[in-house]
Amino acid sequence: MIGGDITGKTITPIFEKGGSWTAEYVGGWRTAQSREELEKLEKDVRELGSYPYRTTESEWASLRQSETEMSDVFEQVMADSIRRWVKIAEERLRPLGCKTIFNVGNDDLAFVGDLIRESEYVVYPNETIVQIDDYHEMPSVGYSNMTPWNCPGDLSEKELLSKLEKTTTALTKPDMSLFNFHCPPYDTQIDVAPKLDADLKPVLTPGGEPEMAHVGSTSVREVIERLQPLAGMHGHIHESRGLSRIGKTQCFNPGSEYLNGVLRGLVINLSEKKIDNYVFTEG
Ligand SMILES: [Fe+2]
Repeated sequence: MIGGDITGKTITPIFEKGGSWTAEYVGGWRTAQSREELEKLEKDVRELGSYPYRTTESEWASLRQSETEMSDVFEQVMADSIRRWVKIAEERLRPLGCKTIFNVGNDDLAFVGDLIRESEYVVYPNETIVQIDDYHEMPSVGYSNMTPWNCPGDLSEKELLSKLEKTTTALTKPDMSLFNFHCPPYDTQIDVAPKLDADLKPVLTPGGEPEMAHVGSTSVREVIERLQPLAGMHGHIHESRGLSRIGKTQCFNPGSEYLNGVLRGLVINLSEKKIDNYVFTEG
């Protein structure tokens, strides 16, 4: 399962000129002389969370003049990327007989959900309950409380609470369910991020360290406190990898370190009535 925030925020133009390709990469310029080198460059750009885009200097200059055209290109590269991941899941995971679930996060535009829905194999779970096995149901909500960036899936706590309640209403056994809520619960060890000022710059302590703050959702916490599922599975706050307990519920956040090319995850082993064990993964 992928828990959301799956689309990038930047495009890296790769300029074609005279049979080679050049792109800005990690503060410098990198040139690819062959198709193989070009593909490697594109892969490295993707691993930094950006979208490689083959273009020419004149086409790029013209795109930068038009917000609409740039936005079209953005949607196109996002769509290509989602379709590529869905295809990988269909080719590699479907033969294993396992279920694959891709949800959106607050960073993702609404059309991303429509793209995932195109697959006959990958499940798009947002605002629904997915039956994980014979015993466990999983309600999913891919939105978050308001962030300083005004993302497409940012909601007020009141709106978020309404979606959480609506999605969990039909659970038959809430205490045996797994909540797949993108945003972690407020005031835990898994919702801590650097505090930002009005210019989105980190607030520093007198000692020069970034000041940290709890930024999770009070609505997510409220619903977990009330229904006490087996697990809360969250993401959203990259810095807050870990586990936090709310009553009987174990809430997890695998964290994220994609900027360093590290994929972080979590494996939970379940039996009928409990979590047998879990392991945080990275690779
Ligand atoms: Fe997020």
